[in-house]
Amino acid sequence: MAEKRLFSVIFGGSVQDAFSAVLQYYVPNPSVAVVVDTTCSIMKMWSEELKKEYQPITIDIRDEVKPQIWGDCEFVDEYFGHHAVDCLIYDPPYLDVKDRIDSEWAKDTYAYGYEYSSFEYFESLSKRVAEPFYWALKKNGILICKITNFHHKSKLRGTYDLKQWFGNYFYLWDEVVYRFYKHIPNLNWYKIKVPKTHSYFLVFKRRKNIELFR
Ligand SMILES: C[S@@+](CC[C@H](N)C(=O)[O-])C[C@H]1O[C@@H](n2cnc3c(N)ncnc32)[C@H](O)[C@@H]1O
Repeated sequence: MAEKRLFSVIFGGSVQDAFSAVLQYYVPNPSVAVVVDTTCSIMKMWSEELKKEYQPITIDIRDEVKPQIWGDCEFVDEYFGHHAVDCLIYDPPYLDVKDRIDSEWAKDTYAYGYEYSSFEYFESLSKRVAEPFYWALKKNGILICKITNFHHKSKLRGTYDLKQWFGNYFYLWDEVVYRFYKHIPNLNWYKIKVPKTHSYFLVFKRRKNIELFR
C-alpha cells in the first residue's frame, strides 16, 4: 500500500481520469487485488482499460444495470466473507434531481428519483454499511467513496457527513477533488448559471481497533 497520499490533488476533466488515478495509486496491484464496486450503476467512472486491469466485482440494488451481484451493499460481508476485499467503492445516490436539466437521464442512470435517492436514504444506508464494509475489507483494505457536497434543508451536507457516519470504523486518509463542467442546479448554490462544479473522492482506511471507538 502506498504510504504517500494524493491529498488535495485537483483533477480537471473527466471522472474516469480522476477515478483511475485514485484507484491506481491506492490499489497498485490490480492482478491480485479484489476490488468491489458496491453501487456500480452503469460504471461511468470506469474506463474500459481500467475494467480490464482490475476486473471489479459489481453490486447494485437494481438488476437493470446488470451488476454481477444483484443485491444490497449492506450485505457485502456476507457476499464475500470477512477480510476478503482489498478495495471497496461506494458512490450512493443522495440527490433529488427534479430540478436538474438532465434529470430524466440522471433518474435512470443513477436511480435518482427512485425511493432511494433522498438524503434520508443516503444517511441510513451509509450508517448501515459502515460495519459490513469494515468486516469485508482486509486489514490494509481501502474504501473509496465518491461524494459531492450539496445543500439540504439549509445545511451543507456530503463529505462531512460521511466522515462522521463512517468514523467508528474508518478514518479519512485522503481527499481528491475533481472538477467537472455541467450545470447541476442542486449543486449550484450561487444561483448563477455556471457550468463548472466539483466532486470528491474520499479515501478511508480501516481503524485498527474499533472496540476503542464504540
Ligand atoms: C450514483 S449511482 C452510482 C454511479 C456509478 N458509480 C457510476 O460510475 O456509474 C448510485 C447507485 O447506487 C445504487 N444503490 C442504491 N442503494 C443501493 C444499495 N443498498 N446497494 C447497492 N446499490 C445501491 C443505485 O441503484 C445506483 O445505481
